[in-house]
Formats: sequence, structure tokens, C-alpha cells
Amino acid sequence: MNQQYSQEIIEGQRKDWNRVAGGWEKWDRFFDEQMAFLNHRLVADARLRSGMQVLDLGSGTGYPALLGARTVGSSGSVTGLDLAEQMLAVARRKATALELANVTFRTGDATTLPFEANSFDAVTSRFCLMFLPEIPKATAEIARVLRPGGWVAAAVWSSPDKNPSIGLSMEAIKKVVELPPPDPTAPGIFRLAKPGDLVGMMQQDGLIDVTEQEFLAEWSYASADEYYTSLMEIAAPIQNLMAKLSAPQIQEVRRLITQAVTQYQRGNRITFPLAVRMVAARKPL
Ligand SMILES: C[S@@+](CC[C@H](N)C(=O)[O-])C[C@H]1O[C@@H](n2cnc3c(N)ncnc32)[C@H](O)[C@@H]1O
Repeated sequence: MNQQYSQEIIEGQRKDWNRVAGGWEKWDRFFDEQMAFLNHRLVADARLRSGMQVLDLGSGTGYPALLGARTVGSSGSVTGLDLAEQMLAVARRKATALELANVTFRTGDATTLPFEANSFDAVTSRFCLMFLPEIPKATAEIARVLRPGGWVAAAVWSSPDKNPSIGLSMEAIKKVVELPPPDPTAPGIFRLAKPGDLVGMMQQDGLIDVTEQEFLAEWSYASADEYYTSLMEIAAPIQNLMAKLSAPQIQEVRRLITQAVTQYQRGNRITFPLAVRMVAARKPL
């Protein structure tokens, strides 16, 4: 891949996620309440236990790094790495509030890890790998920094039809402006949605005991307004699309989204299904 293109993507990601860091801090409690099960799943799939040294890639505001730190305890440590300094600043504030002294956050790119080979007992990553321009480079780096026998566990979004909380907003935007047909190989929310994609990359790197599961669950919002506002404040890729619209077009997208979410009204909440691809693998002994 063209290195300049790759660097441009990475720079774009850094800017995007720094821009939405305030939104992530604002909605942090909501995510914790609605999606903590994914952190627990990653901690289990990576087989974290007391005393381990763990790397979390694309930690953002600390998921699942903070749960990892609690799990490995004071004799272990977690290093959370992310491109976006502003996201990490939120993660650090949370670590301080939780009195977790065994987690450190540092900026860096998941495709060129600033660590020696065999430095970590386990690697975790939630909703990061699909944003990388060169995912196989990152999986090769994961295989390099893992100690023999160590596990990697990653969560990435499955397809948009199974994730209407993301898919329906994109559909609404498409009704208002013409978007270029998505390039399935371009970095983005659904880049690793296809079964076997991430698994294949891990196998290429010599990782073994690779498993993949499409993990189905639900999450819910108090109202269509809460859904719309949070989406616009945290979803950097959706914000980028919305930035191309005029004020009347934004109003129309909002109307279409608010209308579309009514089909997910259950009782007094909006409840969406979600589907996450959970991939785990181990470095041979
Ligand atoms: C959707 S957020 C997920 C954050 C967190 N893991 C979570 O689940 O809440 C994606 C994160 O991946 C980070 N990211 C994107 N590309 C990256 C790269 N090349 N190296 C490291 N982090 C990256 C972004 O900065 C952002 O914080």
C-alpha cells in the first residue's frame, strides 16, 4: 500500500477521534452501562489473569484497558495505546478516578508498535482494527509483541444490516446526498465485518487456535433524541459525512433517522440489536 495514503488515513483518524473525545467523555457512563459486556468478553477471550502484562490497542477512553487493569491487579499492568491524545486524556482521568495505578496510556500507531518482541502476555482491542489502513501490519505486530502462548482478543463491528444503530443513520444520509459506493477494502466501521477476514490475517501471522464468533446482543437508548445526539457527538465517521451537508439537509437526515428508529421502540426505550465479531487467537509456544 502507498505509504503516503496510509499516513493520510492515520492522520485523519487522529484528528477525527481527537475531535470527538469530548463527546466520548460526555457519553461515557452510557457506554459503560450499555456495552460493558464486550469488555468482559475481551478480558475472558484474552485469558487475562493476575500479574499479566497486557497491551490494549486503540484504547480510546479506556475500553477495555481499565477492566483489564482491574483484572490483572497490582502485580500486573496494562498499556493502552491510541493515536488520539485527547481520547487518552479521558482514559487517564478515568484511571485516576478509579485509583488504578497499573495502567498507562501512550500515543502510538497500532501498525508500528513501539515495543520489543515478546513483551506482552496478552493483547486486547475493541473497535479499533477496522480503522487501520494496513490491518495485516497490525496483526503481524500483535504476533510479534505477544509472548509465546499469549492470547489476542479483538472486537470489530459485524455488518450494517445487523447493526441498525449505525446502519440506519448511514441509510438516512444516503437518502439525502449521493455517497460514493463504499470501497469494501477502505478503512471504516464495517471493514472487518466479513466473516473470516480478521481470522485469515491472524492465521497468516502464525497465530493458532483462532476462533471467531458473531456475538449478538442489544443496547438501548432513552429516546430517539438521545440516540441521535449521542451518535452525532461520538461517531467520528458519521460526523465526517454530516459535515458535507447543508443545514436543511441535516434537518432532513435528523427527521429520517428519528422516523426510522421508531421501529425499534420497545416499551419506553429504543432497543437496537447489535452484532460484534469477536476474534481470538494465540501465539504458539
Ligand atoms: C471507536 S474508537 C474505540 C475506542 C475504545 N477501544 C472503545 O471501544 O471504546 C476507535 C479508536 O481507535 C483509535 N485508532 C484508530 N486508528 C488507530 C491506529 N492506527 N493506531 C492506534 N489507534 C487507532 C482511535 O484513535 C480511536 O480512539
